[in-house]
Amino acid sequence: MVGRVAVFARVRPRDGRGREEDDGEGAEAGGEDGDGAGRRGAWIEDGRVVSVKSTTSVNGVTRRFAVDGAFDGRATQREVYAETCAPVLEAVRSGCRGCVLAYGQTGSGKTYSLLNGGGDRAEREASTSEGGNGGPGLVPRIAVDCFARAASDARHAYEVSCAMAQIYNEQVDDLVAKKSGLRVVPASDGSGWEIENLSWTPCRSAEDVLECFRRGRSRLVYAETHMNKQSSRSHCVFQMKIERIERPIEADVDRDEDEDEDGTAQLVAVEKRLGLLTIVDLAGSERQKKTQNVGARFKEALNINTSLLALGNVVSALAAGHRHIPYRDSTLTKILEPSLNGKSRTVLLVCVSSEIEHANESANSLDFATRAMRIVTSPERWRV
Ligand SMILES: Nc1ncnc2c1ncn2[C@@H]1O[C@H](COP(=O)(O)OP(=O)(O)O)[C@@H](O)[C@H]1O
Ligand SMILES: [Mg+2]
Repeated sequence: MVGRVAVFARVRPRDGRGREEDDGEGAEAGGEDGDGAGRRGAWIEDGRVVSVKSTTSVNGVTRRFAVDGAFDGRATQREVYAETCAPVLEAVRSGCRGCVLAYGQTGSGKTYSLLNGGGDRAEREASTSEGGNGGPGLVPRIAVDCFARAASDARHAYEVSCAMAQIYNEQVDDLVAKKSGLRVVPASDGSGWEIENLSWTPCRSAEDVLECFRRGRSRLVYAETHMNKQSSRSHCVFQMKIERIERPIEADVDRDEDEDEDGTAQLVAVEKRLGLLTIVDLAGSERQKKTQNVGARFKEALNINTSLLALGNVVSALAAGHRHIPYRDSTLTKILEPSLNGKSRTVLLVCVSSEIEHANESANSLDFATRAMRIVTSPERWRV
């Protein structure tokens, strides 16, 4: 099935506004001339169009970006999951590669959308009603959904394992095993690149995945607060392998035809498929302010620019149909090669802030997204 990278936009509600207040704004947001529109920089027009006010032009030109789906401040985490991530999980369960990327400037809602809550019982209980902190993001939802679907599939057995890493200054750290300096090497199956010695935790239940996720995420938070690493400068990669093994139907196994004349049982061919899901919370895409970056911060900024710039170049080259795609230019693009080379079911979630002061960055992010929509895909199934 030939398709393309699917692009969804999520507009974060205005700072300091509760959900109810945002509901009100959402209702009046239909026209850009409504009350309070002066502060609004980005809003959704009809579920598939994001409008962004231009702050550089004097007569307030509005740019419109068509996407595959758009969510405003009223959209729940559950809705975002169902539209963006559930179809990718389905593809991965059938043996394809799948990828969900969150792109956008710092503070636009990438981490909220992907990694929010769900890591421990208190959070999950608080989040079942979608209240509290807004409810679990895509990763904890995948953990639960994956095992729920496996439980209702009598035809197959599933083997699941997961891993979580961080790319920071072009270096890869294993967030679950707490190892630093992992190398990115050519993948043994020829599909691109993989992280060498990344620890894969076998998971027998959603709880196992959540435990792994919780460990990884606490490491991420620890790194931010204790080692002066800011989440906005690192890319967080969560991966899940799902192996699907066909269960021989009992009737087939017992049937006489399965035995040779001498009575030895013939091997029943069992189909196995291996799917790989990659979820990346990308570093903030905002343009770095040249003057304020000195010393270590300057190095960080350079590396972030290298990595995100490389991603931008890869996406542009793919969108333009170039033969040479510069995956090798950064750690991030190597890791993302199998997700971007057209053989994966890939979704890009572009997060934007609704305030007028962020309108330029919002437009930049949506320009990136528009390019990504030109990447053609035809996911392949991987048999093992
Ligand atoms: N859709 C949303 N609804 C309510 N609050 C949100 C939403 N998206 C983000 N936030 C809040 O905005 C802040 C910044 O979001 P975050 O996900 O950390 O941004 P990013 O990861 O893009 O830097 C957080 O306090 C988060 O809880
Ligand atoms: Mg973040």
